[in-house]
Amino acid sequence: MLKRFKTFLSFLREQSGYQEKTITIDASVYQIREVFPKDIRALMRVQQLVYKDYQPWHRGAFLSELYSVHSHRYLCIVSNNQIIGFIGIRVVATDAHITNIAVIPDYQNQGLGNYLLMEAEKFANQYACQTMSLEVRISNVDAQRLYTKLGYTTRQVLTEYYSEGKEDALDMVKELK
Ligand SMILES: CC(C)(COP(=O)(O)OP(=O)(O)OC[C@H]1O[C@@H](n2cnc3c(N)ncnc32)[C@H](O)[C@@H]1OP(=O)(O)O)[C@@H](O)C(=O)NCCC(=O)NCCS
Repeated sequence: MLKRFKTFLSFLREQSGYQEKTITIDASVYQIREVFPKDIRALMRVQQLVYKDYQPWHRGAFLSELYSVHSHRYLCIVSNNQIIGFIGIRVVATDAHITNIAVIPDYQNQGLGNYLLMEAEKFANQYACQTMSLEVRISNVDAQRLYTKLGYTTRQVLTEYYSEGKEDALDMVKELK
């Protein structure tokens, strides 16, 4: 039974197959590759550095996304064998939703977030999605500026969307051509 389950899981993983790439941004070299369950600890370390010990997603949340029945892609950026950022995207009907994105502070403002979002957009296009969407804290103006530059606009305000701090979210959407 366990063997069958493992075979099923590897089948699911193959479906999302992403060819690892080496990329150069501003003369710095990174690898970008698919996320595997063995990476969850490293993703949580990224969250810890980004959110100062608050973990928006626990191990279970990552696992359920990595094995979601919806089409999805989880990518990470690696520098010197360390995961320094990641993005998740999940397709439901004709919308590709950014579920999570983070880059550790030492590597922010170097174009990595932009790169991850563009890779997510390629995935959305492969699935012929009409829109991409995401939620962002109303106070997170830095992230909002990046999303706006990439063509996202605010669709609505989601009142007290985040239980942590009872903060409102902007629901942002980008129409894909
Ligand atoms: C939001 C986040 C993922 C963006 O990642 P990032 O790697 O910093 O994003 P980028 O570097 O691509 O873009 C950020 C800024 O750097 C600029 N930039 C891009 N490439 C650059 C480069 N090569 N050199 C200098 N600046 C650059 C961008 O134009 C952008 O400028 P802006 O602040 O005027 O909008 C990251 O800041 C983060 O993890 N924040 C905390 C967690 C978070 O807010 N997650 C999102 C929740 S919705």
